Order: sequence, then structure tokens, then C-alpha cells
Amino acid sequence: HNETTISITVVGASGDLARKKIFPALFALFYEDWLPEHFTVFGYARSKLTDEELRNMISGTLTCRIDKSENCGDKMEQFLQRCFYHSGQYNSEDDFAELDKKLKLKEEGRKPNRLFYLSIPPNVFVDVVRCASRHASSPTGWTRVIVEKPFGRDSDSSAELTRCLKQYLSEDQIFRIDHYLGKELVENLSVLRFSNLVFEPLWSRQYIRNVQLIFSEDFGTEGRGGYFDSYGIIRDIMQNHLLQILALFAMETPVSLDAEDIRNEKVKVLRSMRKLQLDDVVIGQYKGHTKGGKSFPGYTDDPTVPKNSLTPTFAAAALFIDNVRWDGVPFLMKAGKALHTRRAEIRVQFRHVPGNLYKRTFGTDLDKTTNELVIRVQPNEAIYLKINNKIPGLSMRLDRSNLNLLYSSRYPIEIPDAYERLLLDAIEGERRLFIRSDELDAAWAIFTPVLKELDTDKVAPELYPYGSRGPVGAHYLAAKYNVRWGDIG
Ligand code: BG6
Repeated sequence: HNETTISITVVGASGDLARKKIFPALFALFYEDWLPEHFTVFGYARSKLTDEELRNMISGTLTCRIDKSENCGDKMEQFLQRCFYHSGQYNSEDDFAELDKKLKLKEEGRKPNRLFYLSIPPNVFVDVVRCASRHASSPTGWTRVIVEKPFGRDSDSSAELTRCLKQYLSEDQIFRIDHYLGKELVENLSVLRFSNLVFEPLWSRQYIRNVQLIFSEDFGTEGRGGYFDSYGIIRDIMQNHLLQILALFAMETPVSLDAEDIRNEKVKVLRSMRKLQLDDVVIGQYKGHTKGGKSFPGYTDDPTVPKNSLTPTFAAAALFIDNVRWDGVPFLMKAGKALHTRRAEIRVQFRHVPGNLYKRTFGTDLDKTTNELVIRVQPNEAIYLKINNKIPGLSMRLDRSNLNLLYSSRYPIEIPDAYERLLLDAIEGERRLFIRSDELDAAWAIFTPVLKELDTDKVAPELYPYGSRGPVGAHYLAAKYNVRWGDIG
């Protein structure tokens, strides 16, 4: 009979990402009835675990978002009964052939679709893809593979990875994930821009003075130093998460909402970007700091990080799009670990009102009177617009107020995790939020030259204390373009 079933294999099942994000996201989808009726989840990793041990390992991280009633416990049990484990090496064709046998048993003669999530270090991507495609791909249905960054370290290594993957998979089988694209407010960017007349006409150099993309975390690389040290913050956050947001923010109107139409526009705008210049980058690295009797370790205190590491844990950059819409508008990015707060946001600073009648009322600091649109991706999702407003009363005094769309008050529901959106899309074959290979090439082209220069010139990062606002150099960079960071004062 022609009923279908889906087998989802999480390769690297005992890793952090799998336990914290992927299994919980799969459960959330199951819990809310988004998964097809027939599905099986397999964990694949090198450790020898039984099915029961896998279930125990993941059950602690599954949560019931909506109701915490007994129903939840039942659902969890039902989900766990569909989870299995297969232990194998990442480069063993035999082990994947064994996996295939187990998958077939669970598929019970239905037409199988197979999804592999590679939650593994990049040095085994190609091995797994080779073994899985040769021995465990679906005989009659589709086979898709989700891969997560790092996609190489620069243009050449990324192109090489793509070339290797394409020996075994076609482009439409590869789902390159950037989990920021699955965040609610990032997905909403296109809605905001293209379905609101009040924004669309303002979206250009004519009215926008600068755009800021800000990412900060209030914790260091704790425990991930080994990975982080060979990548650094520019590759970890800017070249992917922030650049993806920039592309959605700045692209031209797509012909339709189809994945290819959207990705064509993203590629176009990325290709219009100037390569990042060394003097438009500031890098920093956090150092140990004691605050309130508590001491916080510096980046190089991590035993997995070399003592003399120059890897940046903070960077600020000024980027430019040389096209008709954005000519001369600085797109400032700032990303850092171990800063004073955890936040990701987009800030759009508009130009001054020409001949403002109220200039005198405001005094001379015009910067304090310009409109600013803030899209707070996380935490506490919000979209707000700073406007000038009269303070009620008999005198004419103005201040800057917020038109505020706070998600928690307008939409009192739990916002799904990015991985839920993205896993569901991969299951449904929706590619809109995944990175196409030409997009990846264009993204690397912007950052590769400067990354090489930072390496060869051994540029030393400016040290900043753990928990601070980051290196002061970021302010000089903004000032060079007559900009102030909107998130500070
Ligand atoms: C990952 C980075 O891609 O994103 C991490 O590798 C970072 O360094 C993380 O901490 C942040 O994601 P989120 O969703 O917690 O903001």
C-alpha cells in the first residue's frame, strides 16, 4: 500500500545540540500533532547505548510547553516509544547498512522518507553523507540531510565541502540550517516590510541612515572553547546569523514567497555587498573579571583554548551594499560573548526630519530626535518604534516615546523554538529558510579576505572584561560613520 512513513535519524545523538535542541523540537512537533502519523526517530552515535538508555538520556530535556497535565506524560511516553538507537562509527559503511536494516523494520513496508540530521563535527560530515547515501537512503521515497555550520572556514574550504557533499547528494537534498532563520521575528521581517505600507516606502537610503545588527550573550564560550577557538565570533555569528538577517532585511521584493524566489533575492543582495575591509572591523576578546565577589574566567582561561589565542570573542564591523537602494548606508554589526546582557536585535535609525519645526524644543542633539525602529529578536520579543511625542501638559515639551508591540502582551502564547520551525520545514520540503549553496558562497566572499588578513597579520584583539559592554573600539568604528550604537544610552 502507498502509505508513507518518515524516519528521522539524528546523527550525533549524544551531543549537546541533539539533546538540548533537536529531540526536544521533535517532541514539541509530535506533541502538537505536526508530525506525520507514521514516524520513527533514530539516534545514531558512537557510544554503545540501548534504546532505553537513549530514551532516558533525552527524556529529561523534553518539555510540555502548553499544558503540564498528565496528558503530557502520556505524550512523552508515546514519543519515546518511537525513539530508537543505533550505535555506529561515522565512517563505517557497514554500520550504516545495519542502520538501514533497522529502519526498514520500523518502516513496516510503508513508503519511507528519510531525514538525517547531522549534529556532528564538520570533519565527519562527508564520511557520514557518503555512508548514509550509499547504504541508508530511502529506496523509494525522498532522502534529505540537514547540516549545520560550520560550513568551512572560508570561501575555499566551504566550496570544497559543497563539492564533496554533492558527490553524494543533490542540492535539493541538502538542507543547510541557520537557526536564526527559524526565529519568529526573523521570519516576520518580510511580513513587516512587504505587507505594511508605512514601512515599505521608507526602506532605502532615502530615509534610513544606518542599520544595526546586534548580538550579545552574557556568557562566555564555556565548554565550547575547542570548537570556538578555530572559528571565532565572525565565523560563529556574523558570517551566518547576522548576515542572514541583513539579507532578509535588505533584499528586493521577491517575485513570490517561493523558496527559490526568496533565495534569488538574498543572493542578489549579498552579491551587491562590498567585501569587508580590515579598517572596518574591530575585534575583542574577553578577559577574566571579578564582580561582586564572584570571579568570571577569561577566554584563554578555558583549558581547551591556547593561552596565546588571538581568536576574537567580540567583533564590530561596518558593511555596505553597493546597490541603488542602499548606496552609502552603513550596516553595522556587533557580536560578542561574555558581555553584560543577552540580546539579539535589529535597529533601524532613520534620517533627521528636514527643517524640523521642533528643533528648538529639542535642543541641538538631533540624534536624540530621529526615529528608530527596533526589532528585538530575543529575549522578550518585540517590535517598537521610537517617535517624538508631546508630553501632555500646557507647555510644549517633547520626548521620545515608543509605539510598542510587545509579543508577550499581544500574543500570550509560547513562541516555538527555531528548531521546531526548521525541522518541520525540512520534513515538508520547504526550503525557504535554508541556505542555498550560491548564497553560502556569496556570504563567504564578503568575509573571507578580512578573515585571512586578521590571521596573517596576527591582529591582536582588544581585551574587555567579562560582563562589560565590550571594547571601546566599537564606538570609534560607529563614530567613523557618524553613528551611535542604539543599544547604548
Ligand atoms: C550558535 C553559535 O550558532 O548560536 C553559538 O555557535 C551561539 O556560539 C548560538 O551561542 C546562539 O543561539 P541562540 O539561539 O541561543 O541565540
